[in-house]
Amino acid sequence: EEAPADQIQRIRRIKAEFGADLFLVAHHYQKDEVVQFADAQGDSLKLAQIAAENHDAKKIVFCGVHFMAETADILTGADQDVLLPDPMAGCSMADMANSYQLAHCWQTLTATYGQEILPITYVNSTAAIKAFVGQHGGVVVTSSNAPKIVAWALRQAKRLLFLPDQHLGRNTALQLGLAPSELGLWLAQENRLQAVAPQQVRVILWDGYCSVHQQFKVSQITALRARYPEIKVIVHPECAHQVVAAADEFGSTAAIIKYIQAAPQGARIAVGTDNNLVGRLIKQYPDKKIMALNPFSCSCILMNRIDLPHLAWALDQVAAGREGNVIKVDAQTAFWAKQALDRMLTLSV
Ligand code: 13P
Ligand code: SF4
Repeated sequence: EEAPADQIQRIRRIKAEFGADLFLVAHHYQKDEVVQFADAQGDSLKLAQIAAENHDAKKIVFCGVHFMAETADILTGADQDVLLPDPMAGCSMADMANSYQLAHCWQTLTATYGQEILPITYVNSTAAIKAFVGQHGGVVVTSSNAPKIVAWALRQAKRLLFLPDQHLGRNTALQLGLAPSELGLWLAQENRLQAVAPQQVRVILWDGYCSVHQQFKVSQITALRARYPEIKVIVHPECAHQVVAAADEFGSTAAIIKYIQAAPQGARIAVGTDNNLVGRLIKQYPDKKIMALNPFSCSCILMNRIDLPHLAWALDQVAAGREGNVIKVDAQTAFWAKQALDRMLTLSV
């Protein structure tokens, strides 16, 4: 097995050799051993914006998960290749909604409510789901722009179908002042809507979730508050609503980082999100008492598939002129998905 020091040296050499033709982006949940090489780092919104704005790089090495690489492919030019260093780096939440289930759901919902329903999807979804949304006049959201875009969507249509993360959908709708009775839950496995008063429903939530963020519990917050009365708790909106309600703040990974940066020296803050990011914040801000809300929760195993050996392999492919693991969305899917993504990018400015 090759020594990490050799892999590091090789990655540096190949990056230097290719210059601006090669661009390496990393999501905030990536491991430090990967993030150290990133030309740009960001949350899902920033990474989508970066992809849309980069017209120079012929090869974009995407250190993140499959749906992010698909999004980058859709937003970049035909002459640019997006490479995912490990094809197995998916997202369990994105996999919770497929086109077959969505077609059935849509049929049932339009039969019940008529055409006055707009689909919107969290960026954590497959290109096929985004394409369906784009084809039906809908829009993509990220955890950074969800309140703004869901508020816009509520002005466009009487009802929304929000895919695939029920928690981001619920947290955003409640934040915008909707009553719990105005939310319904679409049980995809049973192809039916669960709602107390179906006629009052304004936002129908798909029943997907993130396996990392659903590990956070109110009891963890209560225990920390008992031990450290001064503690502030910030969590990601993919956490369950009770957890978000028990926290002091919630926001996307970019918002969490901003919150930590702005906190006064010595502030004690517990963070409920992926522990690769929390670990990095602990190291970057030694003057603040930052801790993981649950130090025992796993960081995302799918994000973690991208590691030093996979990254070195991906760059070896570039150096050798081989195709590597290129992510290419077919033209028709990309066309419709782009409608939904472009709508988001325009609304996010
Ligand atoms: P953001 O970085 O956009 O907050 O997304 C979090 C996430 O779970 C990505 O998979
Ligand atoms: Fe998907 Fe959750 Fe991992 Fe993000 S953290 S990639 S939502 S499984």
